[in-house]
Amino acid sequence: MVKIAIMGYGVVGSGVVEVLLKNKKNITHKAGEPIEISRILDIREFPDSPVAGRFTDNFEDIVNDPDIKIVVETIGGLNPAYDFVRRCLMSGKSVVSSNKELVAAKGDKLLALARERNLNFLFEASVGGGIPILRPLDQCLAANEVFEIAGILNGTTNFVLTKMIHDDISFDDALNLAQRLGYAERDPLADIGGLDACRKICILASLAFGKHVYPEQVHTEGIQNITLEDVKYADKWGGVIKLIGRARKLKDGRLDCIVAPMILPHTSRLAAVNDVFNGILVRGDAIGDVVFYGQGAGKLPTASAVVADIIDEVKHLGARKYLSWEPGGADYVADYHDSKSAMMLRLKCDNTEMFKSKLEDMLGVCESVEFENSPSDELALVTPVITQTRLDEVIGALPDASMISSIRIADL
Ligand code: HSE
Repeated sequence: MVKIAIMGYGVVGSGVVEVLLKNKKNITHKAGEPIEISRILDIREFPDSPVAGRFTDNFEDIVNDPDIKIVVETIGGLNPAYDFVRRCLMSGKSVVSSNKELVAAKGDKLLALARERNLNFLFEASVGGGIPILRPLDQCLAANEVFEIAGILNGTTNFVLTKMIHDDISFDDALNLAQRLGYAERDPLADIGGLDACRKICILASLAFGKHVYPEQVHTEGIQNITLEDVKYADKWGGVIKLIGRARKLKDGRLDCIVAPMILPHTSRLAAVNDVFNGILVRGDAIGDVVFYGQGAGKLPTASAVVADIIDEVKHLGARKYLSWEPGGADYVADYHDSKSAMMLRLKCDNTEMFKSKLEDMLGVCESVEFENSPSDELALVTPVITQTRLDEVIGALPDASMISSIRIADL
């Protein structure tokens, strides 16, 4: 019998309890011994919960209990989660976390602490909800030189964009629905503004490339400025707009890492990833392209990944598992202005033909995009592959037009 504690009885924490109780027999078999939920930390009371009576609002009851061997952190956020997880590891307890904010900011420190103490710190649920991605990336794809990872990493924004693209539902209504379904963060700006996807690409890139990528190093754009017109232009060009987190290795060893809305051609394997689903593409030298797909948010999909980590830690008590990366460095992530991609530009100008010709003189041949009744004082086109620096220079040199939007085209 292994005693565990759960910190945080919100959507994910209560899902973990539900899965542990519902699938108890199977889980006991897989873990090799029963798992007992000994304590649950939450400041709220849950008298109707199946585990009522095991709640405490005092962290010391958990950290000071030598019988508790594994602690699950589903509180979210940095404070007090970081301090609690650190203290659990220092007290000799292995930890499972679903907290992407914590891992993206402090993963290197917590992994080092776990390594020093021969403990495990696992966080499969922090990226892709229920999709197995960290373990496959670290173990099954270990033979590969991974050169790129890119994905739809946020269920809420994918849900909102899908509703805009396919159901003509407004941005606000779709976001409300996502919140009601429990997909969105407590602060949905973290979803919409791209920060949640940023944290996840940081974790993926840190694991795949071996050095910590910190969220503040990653240029991050959200979907708040995407309009139904952008969606229509993308469709006319032959693609869909998705919020993409992408990290690729540069020849000089640094990373090109960015989060932004991008247009994916319909032929991309990620273009058909809709609703709350996430899709993650890994490019390796031996495997080629491999895509992971599944529910990226929600109570039970996320709990599925947390419980799998608990089982793994029960099976490896006193033995180190895997997962490790070094601290990062200030120059490790390249300036996003140097990142290259084709762009879809929408520009407001009086003489669209003349403006296009001027633009092509500077950039090379561009492909015009129009839809029925698209505004006559607007030029939409797709540029050749360029850097943001070059685009800024060219637009700066042509003052007779104003930019409505620029969206990268992804070669995924
Ligand atoms: N808010 C997150 C999302 C939850 O929408 O993907 C899962 O990390």
